[in-house]
Amino acid sequence: MLIPRCDETVAWGALAGHYEAHGRDLDLRTLFAEHPDRVCSLTLQAPEVTVDMSRAHWDVATRRHLLDLARECRLAERRDAMLQGALVNRTEDRAALHTALRAPRGKGIHSELVHDVLGRMLAFADAVRARAGGDQPGDIHDVVNIGIGGSDLGPQMVIPALDAFTHTKLRFHFVSNVDGSDLCEVLRKVKPQHTLFVVASKTFTTQETMTNARLARQWFLDQGGQHIERHFVATTTNVALADQFGIQTTFGFWDWVGGRFSLWSAIGLPVAVALGSEHFRALLAGAHAMDEHFFQAPPEQNVPLWLGLLDVWYRNFKGYTSRCVAPYAHNLRRLPAYLQQLVMESNGKGVDQDGRVLSYATAEVLWGEPGTNGQHAFFQMLHQGSDVIPLEFILVKKLPRREDGHVSQTMAEMLETQHRMLLANGLAQAQALMWGKTMEQALQERPPTASKELPPEVMARHRTFSGNRPSLTMVLEALTPRSLGALIALYEHRVLVSGAVWGINSFDQWGVELGKAMCNDLLPRLESGDASGLDAATAAMIGRLR
Ligand code: F6P
Repeated sequence: MLIPRCDETVAWGALAGHYEAHGRDLDLRTLFAEHPDRVCSLTLQAPEVTVDMSRAHWDVATRRHLLDLARECRLAERRDAMLQGALVNRTEDRAALHTALRAPRGKGIHSELVHDVLGRMLAFADAVRARAGGDQPGDIHDVVNIGIGGSDLGPQMVIPALDAFTHTKLRFHFVSNVDGSDLCEVLRKVKPQHTLFVVASKTFTTQETMTNARLARQWFLDQGGQHIERHFVATTTNVALADQFGIQTTFGFWDWVGGRFSLWSAIGLPVAVALGSEHFRALLAGAHAMDEHFFQAPPEQNVPLWLGLLDVWYRNFKGYTSRCVAPYAHNLRRLPAYLQQLVMESNGKGVDQDGRVLSYATAEVLWGEPGTNGQHAFFQMLHQGSDVIPLEFILVKKLPRREDGHVSQTMAEMLETQHRMLLANGLAQAQALMWGKTMEQALQERPPTASKELPPEVMARHRTFSGNRPSLTMVLEALTPRSLGALIALYEHRVLVSGAVWGINSFDQWGVELGKAMCNDLLPRLESGDASGLDAATAAMIGRLR
């Protein structure tokens, strides 16, 4: 299909004109005053997730041009091509079919394959759970996932997120760094006869993962561990290499599952062990519901579409270089790290699908921390710093809690109050970002800690907030397997929308190769000291580090 480059479309020109005429100076306070129905018209419902986009920097004209851009870039056709298994990952001749992993049996492409592995994996997970915490050798107490990037970040994010649903007699550990202290820290806490190691690697060649897997195997044998075959399993597309490693139980997946989209595949095994098959299926069902929304909802109501288009508007026209995600839920503390890979590895590209160098910016920097912690760290900059950084609030109406007998009635009430505090904090931050504080307002205040020496006008200037800082608010009724699945899929599709507009390949990651190759060259040099042919800085540093 012949698709114009985004910057060659009529809509792109219209957006540039609109930016010059109005878009540069959009002020949220004016937009709200002029359009009393703004909240209503810009609050959209996707499965499990309500998104309030009213505090975003856009107006009716912006959105009209963005929809035109989506049409001209043939987003619907590209989305459908992905669903139908076209080789959208052109630099690797691969499809991107993570949606097939969460489709009900008989529905998606490769359904038999997918459900065969899923069934085996869930049966295995339930069997581990059935004997969890027991005294017999082979009864599992600890699960150690050894993997990195997409073979780590998903399970590492989901298990704490769904803490209330996890098996109480199992502990989960995640080892990723080639720095041996990562694994050693975990090994100090576990016993070989009660530990299950999951070696998670799509390729089964990744330096960090294979090195840590060998170290774990050595430790297991050194500790007198018996039946290594029962304590090491693999999740990979490379069953042959897992075999060579000596692993007998392998759950496979396929090259059409990208690493950062692989949570739904066998890479989700630790999640399945933590949650059990029923909740794991609910996670998949939530993601599938979001897939259906993305593939079927009309553009005007299509939440991932709008969010992806907003990202394009912010990046290419408003010039925002980063986006902060602040989940107001301690359990979602690993979500920003997960999204970082999703957004930046997918869309941090400099050429289009045809290899033409881009003249426009692509992925923004994604970063964040849970609220309220972030408020006491970097929110200062969001409120008064020189850059405008759109902020994304994720609020959970009701936090599920484990019925574990440690919470008395009084404590339960106190926890309810704390939860209201959490929500009030999130609401207040969004409000403060938008409204700010004028010089006049600041002049009227006499904060007790303010300098008595500085003139009041100077003091007031320090305490003025420009306001008009944009944010989005996403609301989940509760943090459940289903709602989390939907939320993650929403973020996945959003990334695909902006990537498709930019005309890039969101499914490859050639940018990580160069450093890997150079590391392979430097590793023996660190041992031998041979610095011949190296640049002066690297050669000098080799000398220093030896
Ligand atoms: O860092 C590059 C990368 O290929 C990621 O895309 C991937 O998620 C990670 O490494 C791990 O790869 P593997 O699962 O093959 O070990």
